[in-house]
Amino acid sequence: EKLTAVVCGGGNAAHVMSGLAASRENVDIRVLDTFSDEAERWAKILENDEMVLTVNHPDGTHGEVKSKPHLITNDAKKACDGASIIIFAVPAFAHEGYFEAIAPYVKPNTTIVGCPGQPGFEFQCFHILKDIAPKCCVIAMEGLPWAARISQFGKAVTVLSTKEFLDGVIIPGSSNIKEPFASFQYLLGPKPVLKNYKNFLEPTLSTKSIMHPPIMYGIWNYWDGKPMDQKPLFYNGLTEEAADLMSGISDELIATAKAIKAKKPDVDISEVTHIFDWFKLIYKDEIADKSSLLTSLRTNSAYNGLVHPMKETEDGKFVPDFKFRYLSEDVPFGLVVLKGISEIAGVDTPMMDKVLAWSQKVLGKEYLVGNKLSGKDVATSRAPQRYGYKTLNDFDVLL
Ligand code: NAI
Repeated sequence: EKLTAVVCGGGNAAHVMSGLAASRENVDIRVLDTFSDEAERWAKILENDEMVLTVNHPDGTHGEVKSKPHLITNDAKKACDGASIIIFAVPAFAHEGYFEAIAPYVKPNTTIVGCPGQPGFEFQCFHILKDIAPKCCVIAMEGLPWAARISQFGKAVTVLSTKEFLDGVIIPGSSNIKEPFASFQYLLGPKPVLKNYKNFLEPTLSTKSIMHPPIMYGIWNYWDGKPMDQKPLFYNGLTEEAADLMSGISDELIATAKAIKAKKPDVDISEVTHIFDWFKLIYKDEIADKSSLLTSLRTNSAYNGLVHPMKETEDGKFVPDFKFRYLSEDVPFGLVVLKGISEIAGVDTPMMDKVLAWSQKVLGKEYLVGNKLSGKDVATSRAPQRYGYKTLNDFDVLL
């Protein structure tokens, strides 16, 4: 039987996901792109042509994949008709719009994948898809399988690198799907190998969304507001305070995991890891000095030369771009979600609060009031509180 899949999105990730998937045997791949006129433009570009994926291999060679999604549309009804898997390959701020678009058309036993899912994906999915969500298989992947850049919209994209492994979480629900990862793995191909966490709390409390906001805070909290001649280095220029805050937030998440375990001993959260331990493991060959989180980040060769997100002024100087995803995504779909979970677990989070208080100021939002997550903009975040979760038992539907 043909595997019918929908890829939601229109950026780098959606290009690679739909292109690779469409290159498999016996598939019907539809792109659902609701943003602006992208679907119309993309469909027109591929009317008499194929999409070209240039795939870089670790040994320096590269391959080429030519393919074409079978349908590119902004019509969710057409896209979802008969689909057995729906993949979100779009930044987290766009998830809500896609959940709302597909909600009327999702059938039981559909696999729904957030790739990446990012914190709060499950809360949002279960809230918007209501009764149908528990009958589906909801999967949240921790990241994107590739680093990728579009070189020509609709037509050409480069896969700079492919991960070896990718972790995700499968929300059990009551679907009839026997091997939840199977169709998704088939569409991706052999790499990355998909692995699963035991429940959504493990990846959420180990999330890497806690990296960018403290680094931004570390430098811009002390900025005098004057445009700069150069873009400061992001990791190489990391401040001691930023590293301490990142580490402290990670400690708070581990304390949250322990508090949950104390109240719900059956929940296995043994894989919640501290950010420093994760770094030492993942970048074991790239870090020159592993003595602390600060030195590990500063001396990681994979991060060499990366700079802060900046906007250029008319006279060729630079000012920080607070709208960049390091804050605009990693706060409402990162820190705010984590703060919400810690609050439900009854854990104080002074480190998170400090970074959140500053972040919300530069973003022009209100999530925290004092140290409570009760600001008006919680309503546009993915904090569990927004969706009515009040106690740890409310998480049971997802565990
Ligand atoms: P992207 O920046 O290419 O996404 C742009 C697309 O998002 C647009 O083409 C449009 O389809 C959609 N979009 C933009 N504004 C919208 C709006 N207001 N409403 C609805 N849709 C809108 O993002 P990309 O690179 O595809 O990344 C997807 C996710 O994967 C992000 O969360 C990113 O952080 C993550 N990621 C990306 C990597 C990469 O190499 N591209 C690497 C690792 C993670």
